[in-house]
Amino acid sequence: MNALTPQDLIAVIGAGAMGSGIVQVALNAGHRVALYDAAPAALAKGVASIDATYRRLLEKGKIDAGTHAERMARLLPATSLADLAGAALVIEAIVENLDIKASVLGEVEALLGEHAIIATNTSSLSVTAIGARLKRPAQVAGLHFFNPAPLLPLVEIVSGKATSPAVADTLFATALAWKKTPVRCASTPGFIVNRVARPFYGEALRLLADRAASAATIDAILRDTGGFRMGAFELMDLIGHDVNYAVTKSVYDALYQDPRYKPSLLQKDLVDAGWLGRKTGNGFYPYGEQAVRPEPDVAPAAARPANVVVEGDLGVAAPLVQLARDAGLDVSVKDAPAGRALLWIDGVAVALTDGRSALQRLADGDPAGVVFDLAFDYAAGSAIALAAADLAQPGALQTATGFFQALGKRVLVVDDVPGLVVMRTIAMLANEAADVVQQGVASAADTDLAMVNGVNYPRGPLAWADLVGAATVQRVLANLAAAHGEDRYRSAPLMLRHALNGRPFHNGEPA
Ligand code: NAI
Repeated sequence: MNALTPQDLIAVIGAGAMGSGIVQVALNAGHRVALYDAAPAALAKGVASIDATYRRLLEKGKIDAGTHAERMARLLPATSLADLAGAALVIEAIVENLDIKASVLGEVEALLGEHAIIATNTSSLSVTAIGARLKRPAQVAGLHFFNPAPLLPLVEIVSGKATSPAVADTLFATALAWKKTPVRCASTPGFIVNRVARPFYGEALRLLADRAASAATIDAILRDTGGFRMGAFELMDLIGHDVNYAVTKSVYDALYQDPRYKPSLLQKDLVDAGWLGRKTGNGFYPYGEQAVRPEPDVAPAAARPANVVVEGDLGVAAPLVQLARDAGLDVSVKDAPAGRALLWIDGVAVALTDGRSALQRLADGDPAGVVFDLAFDYAAGSAIALAAADLAQPGALQTATGFFQALGKRVLVVDDVPGLVVMRTIAMLANEAADVVQQGVASAADTDLAMVNGVNYPRGPLAWADLVGAATVQRVLANLAAAHGEDRYRSAPLMLRHALNGRPFHNGEPA
């Protein structure tokens, strides 16, 4: 696999947010970079923004004046497409429109040498379709950067139907040489990240629509229990609801209205209202100087329990036993029939959610009238989510609350919905990732790498599934499907397969 070398001229078309960022990546790697934009003002603005970024780095002492001048000298503003003729790689980052992209790239293709690679930064269009409109589709691939391109490491190398493996290999090696983290994927709707990430937003929106908890409470659970950098609602407010809703709709439509990707009316309502998030001063949260940020609903202090009995293997929640001991609680262990995993807190049965509501568990003859959520790290997480059944014994929720508070956790109470917040989100993310792997869109390793590097997930969805156990994830999904009666929660065939064969998605390779 040979990377392009710094002697190779790179051309970028489109001097907007993405194009200017990609130019910097190539300049930083030592290339000469020709930048073209149809609008002269946009070109000037793009060049000025690149210069301003380097000035900021200079002021911070990250680069010296010589580096700044030398990089800017290698930036070649182009006034016509003809100036791009000698490029070894053209990266297109113009308006997201197939006809316009195909027409501009067709014009450029006629000017380039036959070995030149034509890459598109499209987020949502088919790389296959773009390639099919050109004369040399084998030379066409997706090179999907994330915003801001100079800072975010992930690059999806997208192969269309006709893309030559050698072209994908060269782009992969070049992205590595550019100090990026490349992953390979096939041209399918949303590629890896924009597809696998859908349930992160979708499940949060669904929980809010079902009034399981407030947006602030769900966000706090995703952050402080789930280990996500941001909650789904604050993240959607940051991305902008127009953009996030459009991506969801495009993936939904491209996958022929599969209910798994169904957009949310709550988000459409925000778009209709023009409440697009931070940029308009209103979204799920209010912004601006006078804005009062709503607080999550934290349970009041409850009594410390007198004794804790652990019945069975708590699996992924097993660290709670040591935490309870470390907190000085009186913990004893009792043998249990296979499959039983309960914490008895002063006689109240509490269990990790398995995708059933607590009420459903009681109805099924299970003693757990209170359920708790999956945590990224039970020791490090500062919060835990609990839900109690309508028919739980009086005081059960307070007793369970007292236990988790004794462990130093903030307790966030949600309505008794199936799968709580983190478990349900992780199960759906892992399920989507499993389908991506099953369908040959990307490998398990690349799928997880993409989610960790592209959207900062604390752990890849398939690594999560390995930790929780595919059998548990599959049970959660089956219970969600039973509770909702919706195809949305159907298990990916590969998830079921791993649940049955007991093998992990990752065989020891880094996730
Ligand atoms: P932008 O609107 O900031 O910039 C697009 C630039 O392309 C503008 O300067 C415009 O003048 C220029 N342009 C439009 N039509 C042109 C043409 N026919 N010939 C030459 N230049 C033309 O857009 P942005 O956000 O930089 O996106 C560009 C591409 O990157 C799109 O395909 C988008 O889907 C993709 N993308 C965007 C991401 C984002 O977060 N903004 C992330 C990853 C990909």
